[in-house]
Amino acid sequence: MDTQLLEKTARELVAAGKGILAADESNGTMSNRLEAVGVSASPETRNAYRANLFSTIGYEKYISGVILFDETIRQKMPDGRKIPDVLASVGVHPGIKVDTGAKDLANHDGEKITEGLDGLRDRCKEYFSMGARFAKWRAVIEIGSKKPSDACVSANAHALARYASICQEQGLVPIIEPEVIMAGNHDAQSCYEVTSLILSATFEQCLIQGVHLPGALLKPNMIIAGTSCSKQITREEVALMTVDCLTNNVPHNLAGIVFLSGGQTDEDATAHLNLMNSMDNVHPWELSYSFGRALLANALKTWAKGDEKGSQSVFLHRSKMNSLARTGDWDSELENN
Ligand code: 13P
Repeated sequence: MDTQLLEKTARELVAAGKGILAADESNGTMSNRLEAVGVSASPETRNAYRANLFSTIGYEKYISGVILFDETIRQKMPDGRKIPDVLASVGVHPGIKVDTGAKDLANHDGEKITEGLDGLRDRCKEYFSMGARFAKWRAVIEIGSKKPSDACVSANAHALARYASICQEQGLVPIIEPEVIMAGNHDAQSCYEVTSLILSATFEQCLIQGVHLPGALLKPNMIIAGTSCSKQITREEVALMTVDCLTNNVPHNLAGIVFLSGGQTDEDATAHLNLMNSMDNVHPWELSYSFGRALLANALKTWAKGDEKGSQSVFLHRSKMNSLARTGDWDSELENN
C-alpha cells in the first residue's frame, strides 16, 4: 500500500475551502432525475448534462474532486477529451463509485446490503489507470421498527472495510459512506444512536482489515430527525449533535469528514456545515462536503430549461456557499447576492 500517495490525495480532497462534488448517480438514478425535469434519459443526455457542469469556469476553486459513475468516467467532453483527463487538467481529482448498489439483505425484510466486492480489485486497477484517485461505496441504513438489525449493521460495516482495504491496495482513497437515511418518523436521538452504532461497527471492521485511516475519508449523514418526524430540531442542535456523535465514534487519525446532503434543502445543508465549522476547535478533522443534490438539484433544473450558462452559475454559486461554510464564513444574506 502506498500510504504516502493515499495521504496526499486525502489531504488534497479536504484542502482548505474545497469539497467534493458527488456526480456519481447510477444510470437508473440519473435517468429518473432527468425524466423528472422533462428530459428524456439516454447516455447522450447524461453526458451532455455532466459535460456542461465540468465546463464551468473556476469551479476548481471550490471543488477538489468529482465522484463519477462507471458510464461517465468512460465518456468524453464535446471536444473529444476524456472526462477524467479534463477534471485532472484543472487540478480536480477524478473519483469513482465502485459499489454495485444496495440489494435486499437475505431474510431481513426492508433492509439492504451494498454489493460490489467481487472483482473489485481488478475494477480499481482499471479505474486508477484511467485517472481515478479516490472511490466511494455507500451503505444504506434505514431506521424503523427493529431496524437496523445486527445483521444489517455488521454486514455493511464488514463490506465497507473490505472495500476500503482493496481500494487502498490499488492507490485509491476510499470514501467510506454508511448513510443513515432521513426517511422515517424517528427522532434525532434515534438518528444519533443508529449513526453511532454503524460508525463504531465500521471502524472496528476497518481496524480488523488494516485500513490506513490517514488515507481514508468518512462520508456520514448529519444527525437529523426523520423527514416525517413531528419533532424537528434546530440547525444549532443538528450541528452540535453531529459533531458530538462523530467525536465519540470516529478515530481521530482519519484524514477527514465529507458530509452527504441526504435530501436536506440546499440552504440547510450549507447552514449545518457552516455551524459545525464555526464551533471552537472541538473536533480534530476537516469537516467538508461531498454533496450531490445540495450542489446540483437546481443546476439540473436550470439545465433542463436549456440554460447551460445559468446551470453553471447555479452550480458555482452553491459550490461557493459550501466553500464558505468550510470556515464558518457563510451567511444566509450571501444567498441572494
Ligand atoms: P446527496 O448529497 O444527494 O445525499 O448525495 C451524496 C451521495 O453521494 C450519496 O451517496
